[in-house]
Amino acid sequence: MLVSLERRPIENVEADALVIVAFEGARPERFAETVGELFDSGEIAGKPLEMTLLHRVTGMQAKRLLVAGAGKRERFNGAEMRKLAGAALRFLKAKSLRQIAFAPPDFDASTISAVIEGAIAGEYEPDRYKTEKNGNKAIERFAVVAGDDPALDDVLQRSRILGESQNFAREMVNEPANRLTPTLMAERARAVAGEFGLECEVLDRERMQQLGMGALLGVAQGSAEPPALIILRYRPENAAHSQPVHLGLVGKGVTFDTGGISIKPSDGMEKMKYDMAGGAAAIAAMRAIAQLKPAVQVTALIPAAENMPGSRAQRPGDIVTALSGKTIEVLNTDAEGRLLLADALAYARQLGCTHLIDAATLTGAIVVALGHVNVGLFGSDDALVERVMNAAQAAGEKMWRMPVEDDYKDYLKSAFADLPNIGGRWGGSITAAMFLKEFADPTPWVHLDIAGTAWLDEGKPFMAKGPTGVAVRTMVRLAMDWR
Ligand code: BES
Ligand code: ZN
Ligand code: ZN
Repeated sequence: MLVSLERRPIENVEADALVIVAFEGARPERFAETVGELFDSGEIAGKPLEMTLLHRVTGMQAKRLLVAGAGKRERFNGAEMRKLAGAALRFLKAKSLRQIAFAPPDFDASTISAVIEGAIAGEYEPDRYKTEKNGNKAIERFAVVAGDDPALDDVLQRSRILGESQNFAREMVNEPANRLTPTLMAERARAVAGEFGLECEVLDRERMQQLGMGALLGVAQGSAEPPALIILRYRPENAAHSQPVHLGLVGKGVTFDTGGISIKPSDGMEKMKYDMAGGAAAIAAMRAIAQLKPAVQVTALIPAAENMPGSRAQRPGDIVTALSGKTIEVLNTDAEGRLLLADALAYARQLGCTHLIDAATLTGAIVVALGHVNVGLFGSDDALVERVMNAAQAAGEKMWRMPVEDDYKDYLKSAFADLPNIGGRWGGSITAAMFLKEFADPTPWVHLDIAGTAWLDEGKPFMAKGPTGVAVRTMVRLAMDWR
């Protein structure tokens, strides 16, 4: 799909369909003769994601007019703008239209980027392994009607990089575990590094043994597939002016989670191929960062492993020694993500990261708490939490802060080691975060539990069923906005 800016006045725009936006309770001014009448009769109400396709509208060059409902103006924001652009694109794509022009309600940079990112996300289909694709349903061109501000050319480039990087993450998340092993995930990271100019280093099992990453290695030992600790480095060109800030992006990369010896029920287990969504988000964020070139140094660390119940698998009750020196009693082998992250966070600190962000499909409990709407955000440092919250809002990704308090430490007691890898029955996503904090401290750290938001069980009007690519845009935004 070619994305471009359309500088002509809206009446002169040529396309198979021109999209305009209608707010609830506000009579549209564009093409008032036709659209205004339908508004007065109530046929067009401007409800969220309401789509009305009109033919042969007078006074315009485009072949069709799509009036896209945006809901109430006062509740409209960047996240809604993204959804609306994606939904309009998918609506028209289903009708096999190829050339779309979209007239946003405003011409400011954040609206234009939301439209472009929403459209690119909406266009994506996880159909890589369908040998018969919906060939006639491919959008050729998506043009944003944007006025003549020359600064918008830059906005277009940046939004395209972001949207494409988000889809890059989704493509990786959708790969089944037989086609994306830890080794193959490392190869993809290498390819990104080669294409966009990042440094890439992959630690193998032997190196991890030398370093003492007992928590990570314990998870990997039940699988015939060797683990990999993938490291991608971005250094700002102008190092002299760069700040002492060194961001660490850590992403859980479990290419398949059977649960290990504490095996999961077979019902729905196929979905556990997405247990590397945090790792994919970190690699995809670096793909964008390499092109957008923020002023801060960024290192991504992706501990990748397969959690299998092989004959060498770790058993409940096993005690491992993490890189930090702490001992962990593995009471449940299905709580493997925090074991991988424990060593990756500690290693990120050893590499000199001054601020840590991790993204992980860590707990079913976060889905119970927040459903599929909000990412669960945990953090030990209020200033960093605020930065990430601001980045998430600017990126249009919904996140909700969850507690990290020492009162919950009582839930994490082991009789035989420093820590157990699970808490009790209650507050499962919080005890998981408390566990991670033990390995991130004292470095400022934020943890994003994306178990509920990295995968859509059902398609939405604005996005296909499957991986969402959540957290990519927030991580990139955080790096770009660092002052
Ligand atoms: N990968 C899962 C978490 C998960 C669950 C992600 C559902 C997406 C949907 C994680 O490794 C896990 O199994 N966590 C356990 C922890 C429990 C054993 C304390 C869980 O949430 O059930
Ligand atoms: Zn698990
Ligand atoms: Zn897992």
